[in-house]
Amino acid sequence: MAFPALDEERRVCLSRARGRVLEVGFGTGRNLPWYPKAVERVVAVDPSGESMKLSRRRIAHAGFPVEYVRLAGEDIDAPEHSFDCVVSTFTLCSIPDPAAALRQMRRVLKPGGELLFAEHGLAPDRGVQQWQHRLNRLQKLLFGGCNLNRDTRKLLTAAGFNLEAADEYYVPGVPKLAGFLTRGVAT
Ligand SMILES: C[S@@+](CC[C@H](N)C(=O)[O-])C[C@H]1O[C@@H](n2cnc3c(N)ncnc32)[C@H](O)[C@@H]1O
Repeated sequence: MAFPALDEERRVCLSRARGRVLEVGFGTGRNLPWYPKAVERVVAVDPSGESMKLSRRRIAHAGFPVEYVRLAGEDIDAPEHSFDCVVSTFTLCSIPDPAAALRQMRRVLKPGGELLFAEHGLAPDRGVQQWQHRLNRLQKLLFGGCNLNRDTRKLLTAAGFNLEAADEYYVPGVPKLAGFLTRGVAT
């Protein structure tokens, strides 16, 4: 997820983050430089031990406390209504049971809290979709379980989120197969 084109997506996505934040699928901490000053603390959930190691330097340079919890998004054990924001960027593609993880995200959000998301997924164009379906198994094998063909909008609404704002487009500079982005705010 080191495409330079994605930095701007991260910046816009995270610009509304505030207070206590839960970031699901934290990876190597690529979002940390883009969090605004209103953020008090980030709890970072990711099952990967490798990401935990690779994120250490970015965590050390963050301007707020970051707690890395090595856990799957489906198993978040934080109390309900305990976060002002939940963040998910380029993660719903990789979670084995995204519906279960989204249930947890809803559970831990405070009333009035926001899910800030930026996810690649199923493209609207039939030609691109066909290749996304065809290459999905290979993509999962090569890229740590990442799916090309998940419908982000459907996943969010099926989990009971309201999409307050959602922009959808191909990110310039990213191959279309993994470049159709849904970015926005859900409550
Ligand atoms: C493509 S990376 C994106 C990382 C980061 N969110 C970013 O924006 O760069 C997908 C991440 O999802 C994590 N992941 C895989 N399964 C997960 C699960 N069940 N719950 C939470 N995160 C998971 C992976 O370990 C990986 O860090």
